[in-house]
Amino acid sequence: MGTTKETPHIKPNGVEIAETVLLPGDPLRAKFIAETFLDNYECFNEVRGMLGYTGTYKGKKISVMGTGMGAPSMGIYSWELINVFGVKNLIRIGTCGAMQENIELYDVILGMGSATDSNFGDQFNLPGQFPLTASFELLEKAKKVADEKGQKVHIGNILSSDVFYHADPTYIKKWQDMGILSVEMESVSLYWNAIQAGVNALCILTVSDHLITGEQTTTEERQTAFTKMMEIALELA
Ligand code: HPA
Repeated sequence: MGTTKETPHIKPNGVEIAETVLLPGDPLRAKFIAETFLDNYECFNEVRGMLGYTGTYKGKKISVMGTGMGAPSMGIYSWELINVFGVKNLIRIGTCGAMQENIELYDVILGMGSATDSNFGDQFNLPGQFPLTASFELLEKAKKVADEKGQKVHIGNILSSDVFYHADPTYIKKWQDMGILSVEMESVSLYWNAIQAGVNALCILTVSDHLITGEQTTTEERQTAFTKMMEIALELA
């Protein structure tokens, strides 16, 4: 049974959205994932070009949809997927900039906790700080899959930053000194929305650039690293 629900940003036209959704930043990546890894897939969203697909992987229903870049964009899509379409497991599959010397290009990182410079959480008016964490259930499963495949993963805190081109050159160092593994821009709103609604979220990231060495991946190399991450993410369906 497809959904008859719609929002200003997601109009599925009767196509179902699965309880587990993989969330790359790039909508064309969502298309690539559907075409490459899913069986019997159908497109459920084209609004603003933010492509979403539902199909099956090893017989299990799974969706994949782009989120765009940054916390506000991720905030809109994850909120609607959770609160309108009933999504229960939201798995971001993205890239990040490494911030520690023991992390190499193409390594896979599981974002156990998310530190942030975003004020997305201010809306909840909590009388103190709140630790933004991934779903332990998804994190444990992802680690188990990685172990079974013999894939190394780094697990720890990541930084969700609202600024890609930062004016202050000392900015990164302060977070590095606190042991942050890497920086990306979407985990804050994903984790907040999931925590508030009592559903599961996890960020699985591959290192696309290194903030200490200045190294960057090429497009082809990114594809290989991306496949490593996908092999973990798809098993979480
Ligand atoms: N900064 C923020 N987000 C990112 C980066 C980065 O260096 N690399 C990939 N996503």
